[in-house]
Amino acid sequence: MSFDLSVIPNKNIVLAVTGGIAAYKSAILVRRLKDAGFNVRVVMTQGAQAFITPLTFQALSGNPVHTELLNPEAEAGMGHIELARWADLLLVAPASCNTLAKFAVGLADDLLSTLYLATKSPVWVAPAMNQQMWAAKATQRNLNTLVEDGVHVIMPDAGSQACGDVGLGRMPEPEDLARQVTQYFHKAQRAIAEKFGMLAGKHVVITAGPTREAIDPVRYISNHSTGKMGFSLAAACYAAGAKVTLIAGPVSLDTPNGVRRINVSSAVQMLDISMKMLDEGCDIFIATAAVADYRVAEVAEHKIKKAGDELNVSLIKNPDIVATIAQQQKRPFMVGFAAETRNLEEYAAGKLVAKKLDMIACNDVSRPDIGFASDENAMIVFFAEQYQMQKRDLEKASKQEIAQQLVEAIHDALHHEIEPV
Ligand code: C5P
Repeated sequence: MSFDLSVIPNKNIVLAVTGGIAAYKSAILVRRLKDAGFNVRVVMTQGAQAFITPLTFQALSGNPVHTELLNPEAEAGMGHIELARWADLLLVAPASCNTLAKFAVGLADDLLSTLYLATKSPVWVAPAMNQQMWAAKATQRNLNTLVEDGVHVIMPDAGSQACGDVGLGRMPEPEDLARQVTQYFHKAQRAIAEKFGMLAGKHVVITAGPTREAIDPVRYISNHSTGKMGFSLAAACYAAGAKVTLIAGPVSLDTPNGVRRINVSSAVQMLDISMKMLDEGCDIFIATAAVADYRVAEVAEHKIKKAGDELNVSLIKNPDIVATIAQQQKRPFMVGFAAETRNLEEYAAGKLVAKKLDMIACNDVSRPDIGFASDENAMIVFFAEQYQMQKRDLEKASKQEIAQQLVEAIHDALHHEIEPV
């Protein structure tokens, strides 16, 4: 399962394809952009249609392809001005020398050149041409003009060309172009979240996954926690503008985009890193980890050999990480989790007080449809008494949606007037 926020919702890309052999790569580019979650509309110049048909792009983009400037039928659907407004990015790939020249002088004699003048969206061009045409003084002059006009030029790759030449002029691979576009929107999204997000300016530390308590060099005690809830929360906190540190026990999950991850194994290591995070400055501490309550009193230096019918291993109590952090003088806003099989509310409320938490989210792990290994969860959230906030029922939803609602609950509590104790 991936928590990468690579899917950018509701962003519109107008992909303009001009005449060049690299136009075949643009078909794959449409696929990659769609995979990343973009809405794509394709504009083709006349030259492009000599290399590849509009039908291909229509099928791949799921939208009609725009080819004419003054076609009454097309204008009745989405006219060029509407298309110019619809675009969050105008990406011209491949961009021929002819198109670059038209852009540079401001010609408006076809749909694309008109669109270029009519749009307020950023414009990216990915020139692709014969290496000699790329090097030509006029092309370079036009490119300089476009850069001065604020156009982003994606440099062509060097290599063997369809015409047999070797040199600069190849359009970068579709995967590479799609990645650059995605990163651009991520950065823009991040800049907004850092300024206006619900957790903007906060450092959130999250413990996640199980801990592993060694018995000997090859064996350990652990549990079935997958870390999904903690990883979803890390992604949601990052999306809300926070700086996020994820202290992860052994799990097989990808690190969410933008999140700093520190891997640990045992509860003692998890506590050690958690305390270090307090020194770094931590505003919100979220304990989702299923920390082993006990560890082996004396870890054997060598593999324990089979002998006799019984083996006794003595266990000692592990530190309670969340409770230890909550006791510190400069404590962050503390969020705990409780997994219960009965008396949900009573036990959760008890833990909230006993561990001195600000908020606790509890779920019923006796339900087979939610919890540990599941992709879904349902929770009840309680706030410490001084917040005087009603408990919240978070109905069954994906762990991502639950994480989003938990971020909202944290935000609301942080902005709530606290009754003096
Ligand atoms: O006491 P219990 O294990 O049910 O408490 C659960 C909450 O306490 C969770 O937030 C869990 O991450 C945290 N915890 C901890 N250190 C422990 C045990 C639990 O931080 N040793």
